[in-house]
Amino acid sequence: KMITVIKNGAIVLPDGFLRDDIIIEDGKITGFGSVPADLEYDASGCLIFPGFIDAHTHLQMDTGSTVTADSFETGTRAALAGGTTTIIDFATQDKGGTLCEALAAWHSRADGSSSCNYGFHMAIVDWNDRVKGELPLMTKSGVTSYKVYMAYDALRVSDAEIFDILKSVSEQGGIVGAHCENGDIVNCLVKQNLAKGNTSPTFHPLSRPDYVEEEAIDRYISIAKAADSPVNIVHLSTKKGYERIMKARKEGQKVFIETCPQYLTLTDEVYELPDFEGAKFVCSPPIRKSNEKKALLKAVQNGDIDMVSTDHCSFNFHGQKDLGINDFSGIPNGLPGIEHRPVIFYSACVNSGICSPMDMARMLSENPARLFGMYPEKGVILPGSDADITIIDTNAVRTISASNQEQNVDYSPWEGYELTCSIKAVFLNGVLSAENGRILVPNSGRYIPRKRSMH
Ligand code: URP
Ligand code: ZN
Ligand code: ZN
Repeated sequence: KMITVIKNGAIVLPDGFLRDDIIIEDGKITGFGSVPADLEYDASGCLIFPGFIDAHTHLQMDTGSTVTADSFETGTRAALAGGTTTIIDFATQDKGGTLCEALAAWHSRADGSSSCNYGFHMAIVDWNDRVKGELPLMTKSGVTSYKVYMAYDALRVSDAEIFDILKSVSEQGGIVGAHCENGDIVNCLVKQNLAKGNTSPTFHPLSRPDYVEEEAIDRYISIAKAADSPVNIVHLSTKKGYERIMKARKEGQKVFIETCPQYLTLTDEVYELPDFEGAKFVCSPPIRKSNEKKALLKAVQNGDIDMVSTDHCSFNFHGQKDLGINDFSGIPNGLPGIEHRPVIFYSACVNSGICSPMDMARMLSENPARLFGMYPEKGVILPGSDADITIIDTNAVRTISASNQEQNVDYSPWEGYELTCSIKAVFLNGVLSAENGRILVPNSGRYIPRKRSMH
């Protein structure tokens, strides 16, 4: 039996730091303490986190006009290099297709070519009795979380469908997240802007104002109350949306919140960059004004944000984002983030004193593990848990640059962003698999069939 120990670091446990050695055997954490080992890893001066989970990625996804720049191969390499040991990607049903077909398609893309562990949420875009009948099989196959879109004509479902989906999924012990934007109002504002000749990226955020998110969150929460279902709000970007969720929570509703690094660190001046560079930041919901960013940072500080995931959905600036050079609504929506979420979050929120390393472990690992049925195998460093471990050197100073990233995209939204830490080492399933940004062991990610949502 091969025994590995990780020594000399500060282990981030839910309630504080533990200064001890972590013992790893056969891919599992078996205990703490000093034992003879085959391999000793020195984590002096570092924080040791439970492997980070990115519960919101879109890899190898066809949007109709193009396919995301990152495949499972490249996207999961980037994840691993950056300290993320598990992703949950959005398998997406085709119109007229089944959930089983979508799940099979996503498996065929991910199996054997993933460098971090992975699971799948299922995005339901076409709801009918046949699809409803597939839910028990999804549960058996390890898919216990779903997503609905309230915007994007090719993807969105009606309020009645959301109501029925919520009731049906909660009977399975699952959870449904929603992309909350009022699609009708977005369509109206896009049309009005284009009719006026407003074709540049500037008009992307102006066509998706804060009230568009607020209204959809309000409606989603009201439908969830009627359906008596817990729900998850993905990529929260506004203060008004946050306030609506807090009101529902006060009234006893279970509403979980995910936000993303882009909404915590960037502001809407990016859309005024010259030479169409604003297109690099076109995602939905859009990057907001600084007061929205402040409100979300405050929410992080208050402990109200459950999860920080990326919504990684990468498109090259040259050859993909430029599909919308004459019409902002043709710019493929999405940003890369899978590689840099942990270091950005640490630098922006932990190093700056907004939250603690323990809070970071909760938002980037423990909460997604719980909500998405992977706890306590994932999400915590405890005897019996899987040995997915991320070691952060908190004394490194460097900047983000697309020139040395693993993700297969020709830019970074955080080019030049100053970091106060780096990912020193990543253990995946007990094996040292990445170090100092380099992949040591590719393609050894496993499918993680997920259990019922804990909430
Ligand atoms: O712009 C974005 N976020 N694209 C990815 C799909 C989604 O809305 O989550
Ligand atoms: Zn979305
Ligand atoms: Zn998304």
